[in-house]
Amino acid sequence: MAKKGGRLKNTLLKSTAYTKNKNAKGQIIAQVKKGPSMIAKKDAVTIAPPPPPKKRGNVKPPYSHHQTMLLVGEGNFSFANSLISNIYVEAPENMTATSFDTLEVVKEKYPDAEVILNNLEESGVTLFHGVDASNISKCKPLKGKKFDIIVFNFPHVGAGIKDQDRNIMANQELIAGFFKSALQHLNPNGEIHIALKNSHPYTNWNIKLLASNQDLCMKSKTPFIPSMYPGYAHRRTIGFDDRISTTENEDLMRGAGADAAAGVSNCFTFAFWRLELARKQSQKKQADGNESE
Ligand SMILES: C[S@@+](CC[C@H](N)C(=O)[O-])C[C@H]1O[C@@H](n2cnc3c(N)ncnc32)[C@H](O)[C@@H]1O
Repeated sequence: MAKKGGRLKNTLLKSTAYTKNKNAKGQIIAQVKKGPSMIAKKDAVTIAPPPPPKKRGNVKPPYSHHQTMLLVGEGNFSFANSLISNIYVEAPENMTATSFDTLEVVKEKYPDAEVILNNLEESGVTLFHGVDASNISKCKPLKGKKFDIIVFNFPHVGAGIKDQDRNIMANQELIAGFFKSALQHLNPNGEIHIALKNSHPYTNWNIKLLASNQDLCMKSKTPFIPSMYPGYAHRRTIGFDDRISTTENEDLMRGAGADAAAGVSNCFTFAFWRLELARKQSQKKQADGNESE
């Protein structure tokens, strides 16, 4: 685990030196600025200044900067960066973003991550690496910490298991472990979010059943439309490989049929809350309804 400061800081200092390099023609090949205006070029990866988040019809990102957020299983940290550049601009200190991989592995797997991490660090986001979503407390600084929202976007063990049943089971174990661990870090009214493709084999993971095993139930299901998160670029667990990976979010658009042309993927953010809380809210609603009759 790499904690904010120390090794991370050293790496980011190196990153800043790199960004000041110029190419043979004297052109700046990389430039890092704080916040939304960041423009970075590295290994042909460009992060353009993200425009404000788009609403699609009634759909808007289910987030507010007032909520303390823990992100787990980040890939290149572009989701965290998108929120920081838009929704969390006013409260970056409310965000903690983590990866399962160590900092070294993150940089190796995702060439664009170093610049993004630099921006997050400068913005005041808390960063940790080597955080297991199914054992969050093992990251010492997170022990005892509670959050309003805990997010795991497109979880996948990425173990390359060819047998489909075993692959599904391995991912179910990850999700079940995540629910159990996240509950220990969730405020009483908090929510656990999982973004997932709404197609086979992901539907076979049965995440609602896995949630109910932990006394959680679904509160909402919001379409995950990549353009609602400007700058977000989905990454696979194996890392960025330009022979099979796509720079943007084509992976998420696959299987969306005609919707893909309109930028709408077949993915959703599933929000879960405690069953007990859901029951209380429902009773309260019923009582309020009876009163007004
Ligand atoms: C398909 S990638 C998605 C990455 C990123 N969330 C995104 O949306 O681009 C799956 C991610 O799950 C992470 N992962 C796998 N096992 C994990 C675990 N036990 N704890 C936390 N993250 C894990 C991988 O490291 C990888 O970053």
